[in-house]
Amino acid sequence: MTTKLFRHAHIYTPKMGPGPAAGAAQAEVAEWRDGSILVEDERIAAVGAAQDVENKAAGKALDEEHDLEGAAVIPGFVDSHTHACFAATREGEFSMRLAGKPYLEILKAGGGILSSVRDVRAASEEDLFHFSRRLLKTTLHYGTTTVEIKSGYGLDTETELKMLRVIARLGRETPQTVTPTFMGAHAVPEEHKANPAGYVTLLENEMLPAVAKQGIARFCDVFCEEGVFSVEQSRKILQKARTLGMGLKLHADEVHDLGGASLAGELRAISAEHLLAASDEGIEKLAQGGVVAVLLPATAYSLKKPFARAQTMIEKGVPVALATDLNPGSCFCQSMPFVVSLAIMRMNLTPEEALVGTTLNAAWAIGMEKEVGSLEPGKMADFVVLDGESPAVLAYASGARPVRLVCAKGMLSE
Ligand code: NIG
Ligand code: FE
Repeated sequence: MTTKLFRHAHIYTPKMGPGPAAGAAQAEVAEWRDGSILVEDERIAAVGAAQDVENKAAGKALDEEHDLEGAAVIPGFVDSHTHACFAATREGEFSMRLAGKPYLEILKAGGGILSSVRDVRAASEEDLFHFSRRLLKTTLHYGTTTVEIKSGYGLDTETELKMLRVIARLGRETPQTVTPTFMGAHAVPEEHKANPAGYVTLLENEMLPAVAKQGIARFCDVFCEEGVFSVEQSRKILQKARTLGMGLKLHADEVHDLGGASLAGELRAISAEHLLAASDEGIEKLAQGGVVAVLLPATAYSLKKPFARAQTMIEKGVPVALATDLNPGSCFCQSMPFVVSLAIMRMNLTPEEALVGTTLNAAWAIGMEKEVGSLEPGKMADFVVLDGESPAVLAYASGARPVRLVCAKGMLSE
C-alpha cells in the first residue's frame, strides 16, 4: 500500500447528504483552515482538522509527505456532461458560426454533429482512443478527475459500440473516473433523413438492446430539440432505455423551449442538461421530479446565447450541477475553472454554489456520489490544490489556470 499525507491544506468540500444539494444547501461547504488529507492507494483514509488526521496517521509508514502551505484544496472536478470522444475538431464550423450561421442550421445542412459522425465512422478505434485520451489529459490538467462521456457520433449500432468501447478504455487507461452514456439519439443520421421515425424504431429495437446487452452504458441521453428529436420521440426512447435498466438523461431546451425540462421531470430522469430556454413550468417540473439541472455555461458563451437561469432554479429547489459540454461543435471547452468562472461572473452563483455544482451535485447527476464529489473517508482520493486561498480564485484569476496540483485516484500531477 502507498500512503501519502498532505498537510497545511485549506480544505473546502461539500458534505454528503441524503440527496443532491438543493436550495440553501447548494451553498453549504465545510471548511478546515489547517486541514490534512491521508491517502491510502487510491482512496481517502482520513480528512479534516490536522490533529484528527495526524491521530489516524500515527504509527503508519508514510511513503510521501506534502506541505501544501495553506493553499485551498477542493474535491476534483466532476465534469458531468461531455461528448469527449471524437476524432477531429470543427474549427471551420466555428468560423461559420462567428460569421453568423446558426448552430442548428449547420446541422440541418448536414454539418455539425453529422460531420463529426463522418469523422468518427472513418476513424480506427485506436485513433479515436488516442485523440480522446489527449482531450482527457488536458481536462485532468485543469482539475477534472471524473468525466461523463456520451457516445452519439456513431449513430449506427457498430459505431456507437465502437465509441462506447473507447469510452470504457479511457476509464481503464487514464487516471480519471469515466462514466459512459449512450447517446445514439444525438441526431438523425444522413441515411435515415427521409424517415426519422425509422431511426427511432432502430434505436428502440436494435441499438438500445445491443448496448444494454454489452452493459457498457450506464445512462441514455437524447437531444430533444427542434429538428432533432421531438418530446414524443424522446419519451419513447427514454422509456425503452429505462426498461433495459439504464438511467435517464436529457438534452433539454438547449436552443428552443420544446418542453424537454417538463419531460425530464415527468420521467424523473436523473438529470436534464443545458436548459438555456427552459420555461418556468419546466423548472417547476424539474423541482417536483428531483431532477438535477446540469448547466453548461461555456456552451451558452460559445453559442452567444443567454445563460441558463441558475439562480431561479436554485430558488425553486432544483439542484444545480455545472459541466463543460466538451464537444467539437457547440463548445470546445476543456476547462472546469472556466466553467466556474462563468458561473460566478455571469450566472451570479456564489463560489460555494459553483463549487457544489462542479463537484458533489455533479457526482449525483451521474450516479457517482458514493465514490467522488466530496472529500470524505472511503471516497476516491481526487482533489485539486488551487493556486490561491479559496475557490473564488477560479474566477478571480480569470483565464488563467490557478491549479498547483491535481490528485486523481491518489496519483499526483502538476
Ligand atoms: O451538447 N446539443 C447537442 N449536442 C452537443 C453538441 C454536439 C456537437 O455539436 O458536436 C451539445 O451542445
Ligand atoms: Fe451536450
